[in-house]
Amino acid sequence: MEFRRINGLPPYVFAEINGRKAAARTAGRDIVDFGFGNPDLPSPDVAVAKLAEAAQNPKNHRYSASRGIPHLRLAIATRYKRVFGVDIDPDTEVVTTIGAKEGLSHLMWALIDRGDTAIVPSPSYPIHIYAPLFAGGQIVSVPMLDPSALDVATPGDSFFDGLLEAWQHAWPKPRVIICSFPHNPTTACVDLAFMERLVAFALEHDVVIVHDFAYADLGFDGYQPPSILQVPRAKECCVELYTLTKSFSMAGWRVGFMLGNADIVAALTKLKSYLDYGTFQPIQIASIVAMNEATDYPAQLNAIYQSRRDTLIEGLSRVGWDVKPPQGSMFIWAPIPEPYQEMGSLEFAKFLVDEADVATSPGVGFGEGGDGHIRFALIENELRTQQAIRNLKKALTKLG
Ligand SMILES: Cc1ncc(COP(=O)(O)O)c(C=O)c1O
Repeated sequence: MEFRRINGLPPYVFAEINGRKAAARTAGRDIVDFGFGNPDLPSPDVAVAKLAEAAQNPKNHRYSASRGIPHLRLAIATRYKRVFGVDIDPDTEVVTTIGAKEGLSHLMWALIDRGDTAIVPSPSYPIHIYAPLFAGGQIVSVPMLDPSALDVATPGDSFFDGLLEAWQHAWPKPRVIICSFPHNPTTACVDLAFMERLVAFALEHDVVIVHDFAYADLGFDGYQPPSILQVPRAKECCVELYTLTKSFSMAGWRVGFMLGNADIVAALTKLKSYLDYGTFQPIQIASIVAMNEATDYPAQLNAIYQSRRDTLIEGLSRVGWDVKPPQGSMFIWAPIPEPYQEMGSLEFAKFLVDEADVATSPGVGFGEGGDGHIRFALIENELRTQQAIRNLKKALTKLG
């Protein structure tokens, strides 16, 4: 059968690693899995208890509000004020989404059409590349370099230079810039001054910025990732996606938000009113409780990820694989060690499953710009991480 839109999709390279991982497990091997960024830590107890209670009430079994019930929009507005000092009008400046991924994907339908383009970093979280394409547009790639490989420029400066160059050569001029900091997969982080530059650029060139803030609460060693909405006038040209997935370890619940420019919020709200009836109401109610009563939970999770980061970085260094610790996100973006570089990321990731019982994500799965790296997701605890390090020590015989 001939299909539309999905024909151009390359084979999902992560599926190759998953297949190998599954086969190894069937054969009885214990794979330490840093592959998929699927949080292993539990959701807050108060949210789970509230979900169970709210699910008992038949009133909550009906269709809910597609844009999110008012108290849920109020709870995220309150969190934005408390954490980022940003004022959000819960009636006009936020819409609930079924996770950040759904929000970003459908937003592209409202912003991009055939003939339009979006600027997207390379490498990128895959839906940042495919959402504009699904909407019928084209993408213009801007390199997102490994922050640990930058000599003089900060990740923000080098991305900004690439953006200026891409803008100069692009025709038609892009309508949208998609970005995301802390960045998946490269872990690049930026400061508020970078966000100010980006907003000034968007205002000057009349382009919309979509900032995916999936790792909003994952900053290490005292670093706090900035919200783009902290910049004065950002609401004139920007929207931001915030999600409970990583911040509250609520990945399966599918609760996210798009906040910022009221016209763009209204556009996505209108589109979603045709597409869905919103998230199951008990989940919305429990999400309110998570944000209002488990306010410190993101900080507790952050401490766990930071400790896992340290264990993995120290362990890799012991086997002769030096990687700079990331400032944020839940990943380690590791350059393939020199003696193995020729393999490319997919073959190297397969080698690690086969020879070290360690699963990672090959960088090429995030776009051509990622092929020199593999990504570790910090979803294994310290003991399991130590096990992985012992396995790597045996397998990586070409390292000193
Ligand atoms: C940059 C980025 N955006 C969005 C998501 C997914 O968020 P959600 O679960 O809210 O759809 C992820 C998950 O890995 C991500 O890395």
